Amino acid sequence: MSEKVVVFDTTLRDGEQAAGTRLGSREKLMIARQLAQLRVDVIEAGYPASSPEDAAAVRLIAEEVEGPAICALSRAVPVDIEACGQALSKARRPRIHTGIGSSDIHILGKFQDERYGRTLAEKKVKILQMAVDAVRLARQYTDDVEFYAEDAGRADTAYLLEMLEAAIDAGATVLNIPDTTGYTVPEQYGCLIRTIREQVPNIGRATISVHCHDDLGLAVSNTLAGVLNGARQVEGTINGIGERAGNAALEEVVMALRTRRDYFGLDTGIDPREFYRTSRLVSDLLGIKVPPNKAIVGSNAFSHSSGIHVDGFLKERETYEIMRPEDLGIDQSRVVLTARTGRHGLRDRLQKLGYTLAQPELDKAYERFLAVADKKQEVFDEDLVAILHDEIHSLPETYQLDYLHIYSGTSAIPTATVRLRIKGEAREGAAIGDGPVDAVCKALSAVTQTSARLVTYEIRAVTSGTEAMGEVSVQLEEAGFRVQGRGASTDVIEASAKAYIDGLNKLASLSRKSNVDSASVP
Ligand code: KIV
Ligand code: ZN
Repeated sequence: MSEKVVVFDTTLRDGEQAAGTRLGSREKLMIARQLAQLRVDVIEAGYPASSPEDAAAVRLIAEEVEGPAICALSRAVPVDIEACGQALSKARRPRIHTGIGSSDIHILGKFQDERYGRTLAEKKVKILQMAVDAVRLARQYTDDVEFYAEDAGRADTAYLLEMLEAAIDAGATVLNIPDTTGYTVPEQYGCLIRTIREQVPNIGRATISVHCHDDLGLAVSNTLAGVLNGARQVEGTINGIGERAGNAALEEVVMALRTRRDYFGLDTGIDPREFYRTSRLVSDLLGIKVPPNKAIVGSNAFSHSSGIHVDGFLKERETYEIMRPEDLGIDQSRVVLTARTGRHGLRDRLQKLGYTLAQPELDKAYERFLAVADKKQEVFDEDLVAILHDEIHSLPETYQLDYLHIYSGTSAIPTATVRLRIKGEAREGAAIGDGPVDAVCKALSAVTQTSARLVTYEIRAVTSGTEAMGEVSVQLEEAGFRVQGRGASTDVIEASAKAYIDGLNKLASLSRKSNVDSASVP
């Protein structure tokens, strides 16, 4: 029997933390469900102490998602660990991931306060004690405790080994060795893992985990070097999203282990046929596009264009392909979606795209689908994704668009009239602008009596042809909050209005939350 490598996904924590957009609980739940389909072993669902929304998302995922262990992150402080314990209380297999800086740079930079000691030597003693206390406290909530030694890639090795030994003695069952800044190179990182394996006396009681960042484009190579030297858990994100240049892309790590099984001799429990779907879902919900040339899941990863390649490929696929697209869930055949496609067909396609909807959500999506299908001959996957973005926001809608009229033309002053439903009451207003979109935004600001600043405005045709769906995303800023609003329609002005209103709804919900939060501070 070959050995197994545990796959730890941190798309919803390290990945989402870095994205410009924050996901709502329901969006996170969709991704978590898809990760369970992919059969990752551990889902790091969030950092509960960072915000009430993150805590709620971890709680929801812990309650709803079966299969993988559900993990929550904390710093080595009691308040964070208690937040993890509470958020994970309903999880079938809870894991707490706690840890602290281990390099001199982190210790001196992040723990400057004298209560951590005056000299580096004093601080190191204190940090080690905090690590031990954190692991002990986490063990009161679960037997599955992972310890991270942040910035291990730049740490003094002797101190790191001492810290890891102490963490195991305190009850850690997994040791995460993060190359937090993506500083190491494969040989060096591999050597660090080997040193840990050979020199930490109690290492037999823990699994070594590798967590690499991509600042030098080496995250996947470093991860594999770690595995070759004894790590048996790999951490990463779908599409490699994450802080700065991102984390190791899980699809690349897993497919390297799988495709080169002859070399590594290791297995994972992953179902690779779910990779493409998962990649699409993460990209769609976070609004981070996958580059066409991205390994494994990029749109060009399995296309051949030069004459020599095409000729060779057509004669014998293996001349230019080392993996089969169907093994990654990249389906060559296509079912055309039209107004005659029933609910069943729609549900099936949505599932293929990674969206599992409850019946009421499906009913709403079906209504929107029919409206689009009536205007277009064929509804493409991208159209569906744009529709779903409109439907899956879990926010209460303070503002709802009732009516929109635009007056515009080559010699007319663009004028927009809008009617909104605000908490059930209809309100109407009009404004002129530099163009129809500007007029709509001004009319919406007037009617809602808000003063959000439009930071960015982006439009893209999600499918081709003059009847294509347009998807608009805007970034709005007000009272220190910055949010992303999205809207889709075959009419780009309507899509703009929807995106602006979506943003205003998010701002309204954030300011409501911050009022509640500040009211509850003693
Ligand atoms: O990169 C890192 O060090 C991390 C830890 C918090 C695990 O993400
Ligand atoms: Zn990280």
